Amino acid sequence: MSSHGEPIPMIARKCAGLKGEAHVPGDKSISHRSLILGALSIGETRITGLLEGQDVLDTGRAMQAFGAEVEDLGGGNWRVQGVGVGGFAEPDNVIDCGNSGTGVRLIMGAMATCPITATFSGDASLNGRPMARVTDPLALFGAQAVGREGGRLPMTIVGARNPVPARYTVPVPSAQVKSAVLFAGLNAPGETVVIEKEATRDHTERMLAGFGASVSTEVTDEGRIITLQGQPELTPQSIVVPRDPSSAAFPVCAAIITEGSDVLVPNIGLNPTRAGLFTTLIEMGADLTYENMREEGGEPVADLRAKFSPDLKGISVPPARAASMIDEYPVLSVVAAFASGTTEMRGVKELRVKESDRIDAMAQGLRAAGLTVEEGEDWWTVEGRGFGSVAGGATVESRLDHRIAMSFLILGMASEKPMTVDDGGPIATSFPIFESLMAGLGATVERL
Ligand code: S3P
Repeated sequence: MSSHGEPIPMIARKCAGLKGEAHVPGDKSISHRSLILGALSIGETRITGLLEGQDVLDTGRAMQAFGAEVEDLGGGNWRVQGVGVGGFAEPDNVIDCGNSGTGVRLIMGAMATCPITATFSGDASLNGRPMARVTDPLALFGAQAVGREGGRLPMTIVGARNPVPARYTVPVPSAQVKSAVLFAGLNAPGETVVIEKEATRDHTERMLAGFGASVSTEVTDEGRIITLQGQPELTPQSIVVPRDPSSAAFPVCAAIITEGSDVLVPNIGLNPTRAGLFTTLIEMGADLTYENMREEGGEPVADLRAKFSPDLKGISVPPARAASMIDEYPVLSVVAAFASGTTEMRGVKELRVKESDRIDAMAQGLRAAGLTVEEGEDWWTVEGRGFGSVAGGATVESRLDHRIAMSFLILGMASEKPMTVDDGGPIATSFPIFESLMAGLGATVERL
């Protein structure tokens, strides 16, 4: 989907307390990787619990364009008939990745060491995002990229005919860049090495090992050194996608700031590279507990119970935690508004190059809702007003960014006056059941 059509203005009003169970959709990161790794295996991969959000559907369509069979079997079950490492066919048409930075960057990596050419495009948000962070390391393998000014989409990648392996230190904390390099390394002979100074989500490493690749991670003073042996034969898998902690964040945060709430969010993946928000909320004094802790498919999983928490305190979020909660800062800033004291978020420059500039988008909207927000290039602070004192009553722009739209709707569930977002359409990229799920808990979220 290159654009989501007419804007869908949405409003959220103060609600009397959220109650019940919130079954959030499958993990977005793992869903993209399941489709891509399925396409890079020879034979049939089965996926259960795939996130059927627009971002992931766009990746599925892209895998078809590269020659894999991708079939929706219904009920969240999917079948991928892969073409094997190095087996991608040249697409007939432009690959439209819609709104998804993860989709386009991972797919560019996967095709960069195949002797084919592909052109990528997306919506206005994606076409404004930096791609040199991926095309620079892909050039080390022998791939060439031609895009718009500043390394923006639309962009054509000419895959390497005779790829060589690469050794690359990722300059920014980015699992997308790390994963693009590892996917490119799959079709290069010999060892590809990626070094990351800060740990980012490790789904690619875990899943590559699960599909039978030889991949190892050494934790050193220099950072994490990930080594992949090229040209493996990947074996198809049966994958059960855990539920997305980044989507769980919305009902969890809504319950914490809404008087009278008690919400259970079952089966949430708590991979330590993803769970930073929950640690932060507990440090702020949130009544959030992990029930039924267990391990599923090699990942820690728990049911989250979140209750209204009237005595939240602002804290300074450790910058070292940023990568493990990078997508959750927008909704954290909403919780911070209901705390007493200031919440400081530092070391978060990456927020400026997400689906929108998330510091700017949240700062403007929070100010319109009566909050005091300060910001610098890689930091921002929110002065909490405490429970019952957040005005709301503003109309804000979602800027083609699903997490900005959902964050302001969550704010409107607890602020004194309702919050309106100009366009809730982007929510469908990652959380297509957001409205019905929140309504099921007792929230009032409406389309205007
Ligand atoms: C993702 C990595 C993160 C995150 C995105 C999903 C992934 O992006 O923000 O939503 O699945 O690898 P960066 O790699 O740019 O930090």
